[in-house]
Amino acid sequence: MNVNGMRFISIFDLARGDIDEILKSAAVLKEERRRGSRRRGDLEGRILALIFEKPSTRTRISFEVAMLELGGDVISLNWNELQLGRGERIKETAEVLSAYLDAVMIRAYAHTTIDEFARYASIPVINGLSDLEHPCQTLADLMTIKEYKKNLSGIKVAWVGDGNNVCNSLIGGCALMGMEVSIACPEGYEPAEQVIRRAEAMGAVIHISEDVKEAVTDADVIYTDVWVSMGDEADRARREEALRDYQVNESVVDMAKEDAIVMHCMPVHVGEELTEEVLNSEKAVILEQAENRLHAQKALLLKLLKL
Ligand code: CP
Ligand code: NVA
Repeated sequence: MNVNGMRFISIFDLARGDIDEILKSAAVLKEERRRGSRRRGDLEGRILALIFEKPSTRTRISFEVAMLELGGDVISLNWNELQLGRGERIKETAEVLSAYLDAVMIRAYAHTTIDEFARYASIPVINGLSDLEHPCQTLADLMTIKEYKKNLSGIKVAWVGDGNNVCNSLIGGCALMGMEVSIACPEGYEPAEQVIRRAEAMGAVIHISEDVKEAVTDADVIYTDVWVSMGDEADRARREEALRDYQVNESVVDMAKEDAIVMHCMPVHVGEELTEEVLNSEKAVILEQAENRLHAQKALLLKLLKL
């Protein structure tokens, strides 16, 4: 794990072995919880703060429950209730919070905000979503794919829609785990160049085209996300126009392998990127993905915080 084991800001902060370890630990934690054993004392006395510049349902609650069930404590805060909202610098905030806390998770508009916070913090910093990446989501996604497909290596993932933060981290995760990624997106909505370059430097082959059929043919996994991410609202009309042919509907699902699964990080905008029929079909594993946020993040917290 990168920088003295202290940060999880990009999926590339993890090595393949770290991800294997987290997924194994998450599967054990999930099984234990299924058997009714929720409480562990591993993180007793440890305190995590969650700082949100944008809304969240899954990330906030799964991190809160994870911390509580591991025996630790958690403080959830909105950016604007801190002095950060009145212009206090990130540097001093990071230095002060490092004296109080054991770790911080931040959901921010700009990825550089989280990077800057981590530069000055002396405690682990976790990216809870930025404009560039959503690495915690990718851990749960890889866990879900492994549950359904048994292996990660060799699996073909087709991304349909906006090449956004979730897509960027997924590309990195797939590259790290030896998976194939094929992206269908309109021109101008490609994933971040820096992510593609980094994945390719690891030997991954990333296919990008405007053609949904090309991306989805032979796919084991179809993944989509909203057309308008948080922070992109001013661009809604242009995005809806550009992305309307990138809906995951039954005819798109029929282009993939017969046993393909359909994934989405949620929240879903039903009737836009995903139809009601596909959402309610047996192929959709979206609720399992959301549940796996809890188990994967518990495993991550144990790796970062267990003494
Ligand atoms: N998938 C995800 O991060 O959901 P929230 O925005 O609800 O946290
Ligand atoms: N791409 C979406 C993901 C939400 C979890 C967004 O950034 O709004």
